[in-house]
Amino acid sequence: MKIAQKKYDLPNGEIAIIKSAGADDALKVKLHREATSAETHFMARYPEDGEFNLERITNVLKSIEDSERDFMVSAYIGDEMIGDLGVTLVRPHIKYLHRGYLGMSIRQKYTGMGLGSFMMKVALEQAKVNGFEQVELGVFSDNDRARHLYSKMGFKEYGMNPRAFKLKDGTYRDEIIMVNFLD
Ligand SMILES: CC(C)(COP(=O)(O)OP(=O)(O)OC[C@H]1O[C@@H](n2cnc3c(N)ncnc32)[C@H](O)[C@@H]1OP(=O)(O)O)[C@@H](O)C(=O)NCCC(=O)NCCS
Repeated sequence: MKIAQKKYDLPNGEIAIIKSAGADDALKVKLHREATSAETHFMARYPEDGEFNLERITNVLKSIEDSERDFMVSAYIGDEMIGDLGVTLVRPHIKYLHRGYLGMSIRQKYTGMGLGSFMMKVALEQAKVNGFEQVELGVFSDNDRARHLYSKMGFKEYGMNPRAFKLKDGTYRDEIIMVNFLD
């Protein structure tokens, strides 16, 4: 499904348009994800993992667009995507229908300006409207900014997956598992 369009005034004077990426935006999503996966080690993929295939992204966006539950909260400045947030069903099985999984990324240049908090607020409100009872996510243990934002927005840490990620330099990171109950 697509969310209603909104705008967010960045403190630098630029205006971000918040809407849902659709299948037509696949190239913008691809470029955004390639960029954010190279900017920090906090994303699940390295650019060379090769999952930023245009056809695959188009199909994923189409299926989110067609879904009654799943949605994207995407931020654009002009034609460029600068923020990407998705909430999707953990599994399409009856016993899992109350659980949404959230992932997000913002271009480094636009971090620390309140955009992530705004996108998260929009996402949590929409998730509730769409019938999700809880939103879950996983975050790198050393991602202090993200952990702060998620705690501020009502997520609680409930678990840790030790050594979930091994970076190219051979060091490991734990994954902190968080949940936000929407009731
Ligand atoms: C994590 C991310 C989504 C946050 O979005 P954002 O727009 O930068 O966040 P906001 O500006 O809305 O809020 C950031 C908050 O973290 C705080 N913060 C910033 N750096 C921090 C740090 N090193 N430690 C703790 N808190 C920090 C800010 O003060 C702010 O808190 P406040 O609103 O209470 O003042 C964004 O930085 C990002 O995409 N980073 C790169 C990719 C990534 O980490 N994705 C998440 C994967 S789980």
